[in-house]
Amino acid sequence: MKKINAAITGIKGYVPDYVLDNKELEKLVDTNDEWIVSRTGIKERRILKGENKGSSDLGTAAVNGLLKKTNTLPEEIDLLICATATPDMLFPSTACLIANKIGAGNICAFDIMAACSGFLYALSTASKFIETGTYKKVIVVGCDKMSSIVDYTDRTTCVLFGDGAGAILLEPNFEGLGVQDTILRSDGGGGEFLRQKAGGSLHPASHKTIDAREHFVYQDGQPVFKAAVKSMADVSEEIMKRNDLTADDVAWLVPHQANKRIIDATSRRMGVGEEKVMLNIEKYGNTTTGTIPLCLWDWESQLKKGDNLVLAAFGGGFTWGSIYLKWAYDSKK
Ligand code: UT7
Repeated sequence: MKKINAAITGIKGYVPDYVLDNKELEKLVDTNDEWIVSRTGIKERRILKGENKGSSDLGTAAVNGLLKKTNTLPEEIDLLICATATPDMLFPSTACLIANKIGAGNICAFDIMAACSGFLYALSTASKFIETGTYKKVIVVGCDKMSSIVDYTDRTTCVLFGDGAGAILLEPNFEGLGVQDTILRSDGGGGEFLRQKAGGSLHPASHKTIDAREHFVYQDGQPVFKAAVKSMADVSEEIMKRNDLTADDVAWLVPHQANKRIIDATSRRMGVGEEKVMLNIEKYGNTTTGTIPLCLWDWESQLKKGDNLVLAAFGGGFTWGSIYLKWAYDSKK
């Protein structure tokens, strides 16, 4: 029997209309455009405004767009995996909510939580269901309404994050294209540096946790920065080595968009020139699980069948990882 690979056969992103630029943030906290751009590369981010809207609304918009674009009916989907760090609620899962909103029926649907590495964890998990022949059409969606957990009085975090979503369709490929190799890592010792302190079973919501602003993202930037630079570069280099890929072989680096300086360090270690690095941090900021599919969406028209892509991410947990895949189609945008 021919080997089955899991290949991306469609991609769609979604970002809300409202643009929060650095100038507007200057009015909220003691910051400035020069600091934000030089330290992070971010110029603006998108925010989901309005009542009663959560990450599932971002994810549903991306998935509905994907279904339309790929001429796929909701009832054809076998599995939907949602990566998110900002679920609509602790349960039911955001995947279940999205599956219901798109009319997918009683399909297998579940969430994966690996913070900013969530999309890679979800893609890797989804690919196993394809490779084993279990399922034929799988959707992976990364969606985060980061504005729901960002403290807009904290200048060290509020400049970093934005809202957005991206969804991919995964299908079997018999030509050797699609996911080739995966490295996923974690270090729970890093948990203290990047977390949402309250709202779970350890510290359920109370007047005390709300007064202490513990339902917002907390980040001690420098240790996270140091770990991110080392870990993202390590796994990207490792996946190249064990697949005998030279820098020339790599068509694109698709990095998580947390900080341009982390991305630059990764591409330097890989020896990959900046013309091959997907970068859209300036317009969306860090959308957590949305960054990698939003990059693929933005660059889709330039991707060619057979291109070698290295995806890399680092996030809370700590979690990090890299996926090597061969792009499976010429653009049909
Ligand atoms: O995606 C999940 C993983 N997350 C990441 O990968 C993020 C990793 N960390 C980072 O990207 C960086 O650490 C930050 C962008 C968060 C911060 O950059 P930094 O170069 O590490 O700055 P810093 O925290 O060392 O702060 C330097 C100075 C401080 O002032 P003093 O103490 O030197 O007077 C900060 O108070 O910059 C100050 N500062 C700001 N100034 C203007 C911090 N935030 C701001 C701000 N505007 N928004």
